[in-house]
Amino acid sequence: MVYPILVTGGTGTLGSELVPRLLAAGRTVRILSRSARPNTEGVDYVVGDLETGDGIDAAVAGAEIVVHAAGSAKGDAAKAETLVSALRRAGIARHLLYMSVVGADTTPVVSSIDRSTLGYFEAKRKAELLVSGSGIPFTTLRATQFHSFFVAIVELGLRLPFVPSFAGFRYQPVDVRDVAQRLAELTLREPEGLVEEIGGPRVYPMEDLLKDYLRAIGRKRLVVPMPIPGAQPERNVPVQTSRSTTRPESAHGKSSWPKSLRPRHLTNRSLEPDCGLPKADQRAHASAHAPRPSPPDQKI
Ligand SMILES: NC(=O)c1ccc[n+]([C@@H]2O[C@H](COP(=O)([O-])OP(=O)(O)OC[C@H]3O[C@@H](n4cnc5c(N)ncnc54)[C@H](OP(=O)(O)O)[C@@H]3O)[C@@H](O)[C@H]2O)c1
Repeated sequence: MVYPILVTGGTGTLGSELVPRLLAAGRTVRILSRSARPNTEGVDYVVGDLETGDGIDAAVAGAEIVVHAAGSAKGDAAKAETLVSALRRAGIARHLLYMSVVGADTTPVVSSIDRSTLGYFEAKRKAELLVSGSGIPFTTLRATQFHSFFVAIVELGLRLPFVPSFAGFRYQPVDVRDVAQRLAELTLREPEGLVEEIGGPRVYPMEDLLKDYLRAIGRKRLVVPMPIPGAQPERNVPVQTSRSTTRPESAHGKSSWPKSLRPRHLTNRSLEPDCGLPKADQRAHASAHAPRPSPPDQKI
């Protein structure tokens, strides 16, 4: 009997691109979610919460291949620990895939101030170590930020008088579909350990990304660069130019940021398959009549 592939985070931005690719490869999928949802063809939902541990033993029962793509701004180490413990108790997993972030191992998080702003990276690194030390054969993929990350910041800024940007930060946004494709391929192969990272085709100053997106949706807001506190300067490791957010040598993502924002992507029909943004954002875009953003010209 071929068991379904368990996907945590299967309802998220990445997971909702990953699951159809696994189905297209002829696999069935079990999705762990905190909310009950109706099953669909090839997909069963199980309710569970990786923060509390509720429902996790039932979710992992029979799972040989597990993709851990659930995550949130805080607490990813604890979520990984809950999952790994349940998988070890069940004792049959033969491939655990973990979705991590570029910078997990290269972002210095030492002080409590670092932790308050960059603690996400520390949690992802702890989760990586839990996975690699679990005794379960594993594959860990790190990606740069998805396009949806910048969309979320703009949407936050639209509720504020300005859009906050992190002063001096540069990013290499990657289309989530490129990440999902790579993760699907890895899921269907044997465990490979820590694999090469994936980033988008180009690096941009964060301000440019936010301004591009504002232009694309036809909205005006001041973009205000804000210094991110932390002890990096003391150790002479300027996080904004460090290896925290970019991997130019791993620019495997095909779809660039400006391409994703072309006006032809701002219609209901074309957005659905092509823009790489979450459904809620797609609906917001679809109602916007936007001018074409001028592609940022910096290549760093
Ligand atoms: N977004 C980025 O730019 C980026 C970049 C690199 C790596 N990553 C990593 O990629 C993974 C997916 O990111 P994403 O942007 O797709 O996330 P997302 O859209 O925010 O979705 C989060 C997913 O995690 C699940 N989840 C959250 N807390 C949970 C809990 N306590 N128990 C069970 N499930 C929980 C949610 O499921 P329910 O709401 O259905 O319960 C949802 O499916 C994360 O590990 C993230 O760290 C993200």
